[in-house]
Amino acid sequence: MTTPPLFPDEPAGIHVATAIPGPKSEELRVRHARVQDARTVHFYQDATRSRGNYIVDVDGNTILDLYGHIACVPLGYNHPALLDAWRGGRFDWAAGYRPALGIAPPAEWVGIVDGALSRVAPKGLTQLVTVTTGAEAVENAIKTAFVRLARKRREGAAPSAEDLRLTMLNRQPHTNDMKVISFEGGFHGRSLGSLSATRSKAIHKLDFPAFEWPVVAFPANRFPLTENLEYNNEIEARSLASVRDLLDADPQIAALIIEPIQGEGGDRHASAAFFCELRRISAERQVTFIVDEVQTGAGGTGRFWAHEGWDLPEPPDIVTFSKKMQLGGYYFRPELFPAEPWRIFNTFLGDPIRGAQLEVIIEVMERDDLIGNVARTGDLLVRELSGLQARYPGLFSQARGVGTYAAIDARDPATRDAIVRGLQQLGVEAGGSGDRSIRFRPALVFEARHVHEAIDRFHHVARGLSGQPASAGMGA
Ligand SMILES: Cc1ncc(COP(=O)(O)O)c(C=O)c1O
Repeated sequence: MTTPPLFPDEPAGIHVATAIPGPKSEELRVRHARVQDARTVHFYQDATRSRGNYIVDVDGNTILDLYGHIACVPLGYNHPALLDAWRGGRFDWAAGYRPALGIAPPAEWVGIVDGALSRVAPKGLTQLVTVTTGAEAVENAIKTAFVRLARKRREGAAPSAEDLRLTMLNRQPHTNDMKVISFEGGFHGRSLGSLSATRSKAIHKLDFPAFEWPVVAFPANRFPLTENLEYNNEIEARSLASVRDLLDADPQIAALIIEPIQGEGGDRHASAAFFCELRRISAERQVTFIVDEVQTGAGGTGRFWAHEGWDLPEPPDIVTFSKKMQLGGYYFRPELFPAEPWRIFNTFLGDPIRGAQLEVIIEVMERDDLIGNVARTGDLLVRELSGLQARYPGLFSQARGVGTYAAIDARDPATRDAIVRGLQQLGVEAGGSGDRSIRFRPALVFEARHVHEAIDRFHHVARGLSGQPASAGMGA
């Protein structure tokens, strides 16, 4: 018995009509570049004709999307539930103006916050701040950790008049040297504060003043895990020892921030035991444990939150999100709630229309068991990537993934770039991570047929690069 596709009326498959980007995309790029930086644009999308896992571009190409606008597209393009909600007036309350949600929120906002957004809250984290982007989420999470450490230092007393005077001179005693530990290869955003925790590429940080915060080696596990246990255990033990040493030496460390799987940094994975030990160490010293789920959150790992797979001894203190959640924000433990209002605040505090869309997205995820789909499709995807690596050992290595949050490494950076370009010409939108990985961040409606279509194009590109006849694999 065949089950119906999760996304109705998707295109039958990839269709390549021109080079990608095609002539219309290039024309648009010229126009666009007169006003904005268009150098990073892959192609221009025909927004209304794109459906499900397939982008339609302005040149009429139908492109299978493995990248999802950098992991941001939960239901694929133009899901009928979202379009029906829009056309049926469900978003009317959010369409006429953009409110300052900390001042006069529409009543419907409360329904979203104590409804869908509370249903998906990580266990134990009952409080929520919403903002717009991932970097803002991280910055405010870090501020929350600083407030916690300052409160502990003052033992609940109010700041002195002298504290307040020095604050206005940017010379706060015991505050300007508070720190956040992050991990080598980590990415937490590009705003001035979050950038001090970001460690993935120098070009992101170059020429911007930064806090001198400590960095610890991320224990990037080698794959397959079972064949590399000794190596993985050793590097994890070394990272944990560095964290312990730093915390023992410096009481001004307020927080530790880490991604469950390093995204921008090259799809690097550590073990559940490693994360449990980090949680234990930080809880013991009352250092705020921030799990940055901006890229891993909302289903892509086959769980709503990737950290659910660790079986932590107690919940993280803070979990940040954005991307597939449409809004930025963070969930946190009630004891971290700042004593005074206005300390974690901005004008919009999120965006009602994105919240309204997210409510529908969560309903569809629940109705269609999209997380179950991601887990099943992810198993197939990683098996297929392992097969690819076995077939082309000189080209590929380190096939890995949790759910469809998957990746494979190319021989070197130049080969990775050539593969991504080759896939693009065959109608597959893929993206790199780190210096040699190709990452998968498809929508939650990515199914077996899409895996087979993608892997077929990988074989085709690989044959071309390894000198074997390229045509044999197409459609296999
Ligand atoms: C783990 C992580 N944190 C934070 C960010 C920053 O998010 P944004 O680009 O929305 O500011 C990203 C973006 O890629 C991310 O992957």
